[in-house]
Amino acid sequence: MSKLLSVYCSLFVTTGLVSIGQTANINIPVSTAVPTTDSGTPIYSLKNKDGKICFKAAFDSEVHVRFKPDNTTKEKTVVVKVPADASATGKCDEYNSALTLKWSKYSLKFSFQKKAANLTTKKHKATQLYYSNGVNFTINTTNNSDFPDLRDEGTKTLEKKTKQVGFIVSPSNQSYSCVILQKYTLKLPYLYKKTSQFKNAKLHLKNVRFQPFNVPESGKFLKSHDCPADVANKQAKQNIVPLVVASSLGIFIIIIIFAYFISKTLNKPGYKAVD
Ligand SMILES: *[C@@H]1O[C@H](CO)[C@@H](O)[C@H](O)[C@H]1NC(C)=O
Ligand SMILES: *[C@@H]1O[C@H](CO)[C@@H](O)[C@H](O)[C@H]1NC(C)=O
Ligand SMILES: *[C@@H]1O[C@H](CO)[C@@H](O)[C@H](O)[C@H]1NC(C)=O
Ligand SMILES: *[C@@H]1O[C@H](CO)[C@@H](O)[C@H](O)[C@H]1NC(C)=O
Ligand SMILES: *[C@@H]1O[C@H](CO)[C@@H](O)[C@H](O)[C@H]1NC(C)=O
Ligand SMILES: *[C@@H]1O[C@H](CO)[C@@H](O)[C@H](O)[C@H]1NC(C)=O
Repeated sequence: MSKLLSVYCSLFVTTGLVSIGQTANINIPVSTAVPTTDSGTPIYSLKNKDGKICFKAAFDSEVHVRFKPDNTTKEKTVVVKVPADASATGKCDEYNSALTLKWSKYSLKFSFQKKAANLTTKKHKATQLYYSNGVNFTINTTNNSDFPDLRDEGTKTLEKKTKQVGFIVSPSNQSYSCVILQKYTLKLPYLYKKTSQFKNAKLHLKNVRFQPFNVPESGKFLKSHDCPADVANKQAKQNIVPLVVASSLGIFIIIIIFAYFISKTLNKPGYKAVD
């Protein structure tokens, strides 16, 4: 069923004729396999003029869009999944790169920047870094079957912008890695905030790898740089072992003390040891 749906999606992208809501029962064999990691996470990549991979990413993602339907005051959330076969375009310049995924009525753009010189922040000392300086999610609301109860027509863009060192930060000789689910809030530009039926959206990302610069000849991800959430999670898991050891040691000591007092009580005068 999902395969059939993705056929519709890709059909829409390539021909622009078949809408997602249409239910004509055409079954077109899917010839090109979608690249995924071993655990089934989609891989998206860009190639340069020489046919070499210059931007590589892998992630499971969906966008939770919050909006106010027609004639109600109650807000509603629609979940838009990013398909594995979304088309990937973008750019790979030396200090700026971007990946735009397009499918059916949507596009999702990740922009990255690399600092030319050494950069010192609280967390990262004197290393060349790259980071995302913006994510844009664009919805074409015209004839969009995911939003039947929406009056807003045309395309709307929700975005996350940052001025300084943004999010998805990594030293430039490593690949950003984040297994744990991360949520990023995407907002409407201030100008449309009051009038639009859209409120905001949350981009959900997990099992993430990003190599927006310095992709090696092999086309593989460089050594991974764990995101702060993964680092904290690993530390928490490591702390469980000493905790278990410490608490079982504690229980052992209590048993010894208990046994000591019991034996003392039993050895009190009045109790005669039976030979
Ligand atoms: C909302 O109300 C308008 C006017 O009252 C009506 O024309 C329209 O069909 C309604 N929309 C929905 C989704 O019920
Ligand atoms: C960055 O800092 C490191 C360590 O201080 C230094 O070895 C390196 O040459 C610097 N690189 C640049 C591009 O300034
Ligand atoms: C994101 O969308 C906004 C509004 O359309 C636009 O001004 C901005 O340049 C876009 N940002 C990127 C990185 O494409
Ligand atoms: C949005 O979708 C409508 C209906 O399919 C289409 O006519 C229009 O060209 C699309 N707009 C953009 C900007 O892609
Ligand atoms: C929207 O869909 C309706 C019914 O499917 C169709 O008649 C109309 O031409 C479509 N509009 C656009 C702009 O694609
Ligand atoms: C990345 O570069 C830094 C600074 O030059 C160096 O200390 C570190 O070992 C490098 N890491 C990898 C994985 O090559």
